[in-house]
Amino acid sequence: MKILVTGGCGFIGSAFILQQLSLGRTVLNLDVLSYAGNPENLYSAACSPNYYFAHGDIGDRVLVSGLLQEFRPDAIVNFAAETHVDRSIVDPTPFFKTNANGTASLLVETLNWWKELPKAQRESFRFLHISTDEVF
Ligand SMILES: NC(=O)c1ccc[n+]([C@@H]2O[C@H](COP(=O)([O-])OP(=O)(O)OC[C@H]3O[C@@H](n4cnc5c(N)ncnc54)[C@H](O)[C@@H]3O)[C@@H](O)[C@H]2O)c1
Repeated sequence: MKILVTGGCGFIGSAFILQQLSLGRTVLNLDVLSYAGNPENLYSAACSPNYYFAHGDIGDRVLVSGLLQEFRPDAIVNFAAETHVDRSIVDPTPFFKTNANGTASLLVETLNWWKELPKAQRESFRFLHISTDEVF
């Protein structure tokens, strides 16, 4: 099983990736490496032949479309988010950019790609959006 994980260098995403690799799954991690992203969280994954990393933004539609075409995931798990509420009081712009527009772009590109899949793959494909009130 191949999983596209977004925001996988963050707190929850990195733990999820390590768990999935231990279960024998193949993971592509798309992360923009914001102040919250820490590649060292995945230090032990770096030598796994089943782990791939793409540096980029979930809102980059060309990048996301290319990754979907190339990696052809069975599932997407979206952890990418601006999560520290206190920062939104200082500047809410990055929160709108990633949590609203970025998520919408990721969904649209996924839908466009998903529509072209064979029926059996369309039915088994899953998009899991991880979030909390701190994001909304
Ligand atoms: N931390 C918790 O206890 C907890 C609990 C339940 C749910 N959640 C939810 O899980 C999600 C992730 O939480 P976290 O604590 O791991 O967050 P985090 O801030 O530790 O990590 C977020 C990750 O997303 C990346 N990122 C940010 N913007 C991006 C973009 N535009 N494109 C690609 N990558 C981007 C960052 O670089 C970082 O690696 C959030 O939706 C959060 O609400 C967190």
